[in-house]
Amino acid sequence: QAEISRIRNISKVQFGKYDLFPWYFSPYPEDFTQEDLMYICEFCLSYYGDLKSFTRHRQKCTLQHPPGNEIYRDDYVSFFEIDGRRQRTWCRNLCLLSKMFLDHKTLYYDVDPFLFYVMTSQDEKGYHLVGYFSKEKESIDGYNVACILTLPQFQRRGYGRLLIQFSYELSKIENKLGSPEKPLSDLGLLSYRQYWTEQLVEILVECNEREEKVSIEQLAQRLAMTTADVEGTLHAKHMQVWHKTDHKIVIPMKLIKEHEARVEKAKTKPKRSIDPDLIQWKPPV
Ligand code: COA
Ligand code: NA
Repeated sequence: QAEISRIRNISKVQFGKYDLFPWYFSPYPEDFTQEDLMYICEFCLSYYGDLKSFTRHRQKCTLQHPPGNEIYRDDYVSFFEIDGRRQRTWCRNLCLLSKMFLDHKTLYYDVDPFLFYVMTSQDEKGYHLVGYFSKEKESIDGYNVACILTLPQFQRRGYGRLLIQFSYELSKIENKLGSPEKPLSDLGLLSYRQYWTEQLVEILVECNEREEKVSIEQLAQRLAMTTADVEGTLHAKHMQVWHKTDHKIVIPMKLIKEHEARVEKAKTKPKRSIDPDLIQWKPPV
């Protein structure tokens, strides 16, 4: 796996109406990475080393959405499910593309064991790739996400949160507790920690108002999170106290203030979220 840790090999990529500036090495064939600019078709994800062949391709390419079933649509985003075995080339191309923004080792060639959940935003030209996560068809470790990515031009706008929420909504439908594959990148951990904290605090505040007791197992069930992730988050956010052998969950004032600020902000600018009722999906058999 030596080639994966090699230094960044591509300086700039034209992708739809955006220029991408890769962060890390990605094993595109060397012929394509020689020039200052590489071209990737935003729909079929095939790559070109020169403008002429890319232009020729664009005249022929008819794809306007990821090559799978649309399993979710609201007025903001759609999700498509793509089987790595059936759409091998497309999924390999997606992995190559995402490797430019992922430091650790990812798979590019053996995409067969994975499903890809691709989030798009729609306009008159088609369904544009915003981000995705991959998921093993069968994970012995109970992972519900393998890789997760928001394209850099869309980062820090809440899309990662939608991807994460979607992954847990699928786990709820499967009646499983899920967790992202480890190790998480720094950005991955920041995003998950934030998501986990918000979800837990919301339920805990609710329970508090109703003077209702809730256990770690119940929290895990409600959020389709593993008990390890629930405990890890409670621990990281100083939400656990022990009194002799008695264990208590507390909400530090800082987290309550943050929660109240989110509630306040949502009154003027509601946060985008996935509506579980709009998911048209059954666990693959
Ligand atoms: N700095 C600080 N906090 C960050 C952050 C950053 N650069 N990026 C995300 N966060 C935290 C914030 O708390 C953020 O909420 P806020 O913006 O309301 O404060 C929260 O995560 C969610 O951010 P969001 O905008 O929904 O996420 P995103 O669309 O930027 O996507 C990733 C998050 C991880 C998917 C994205 O950073 C990414 O694709 N990174 C490269 C690939 C990668 O590392 N994937 C994980 C591998 S396991
Ligand atoms: Na975002």
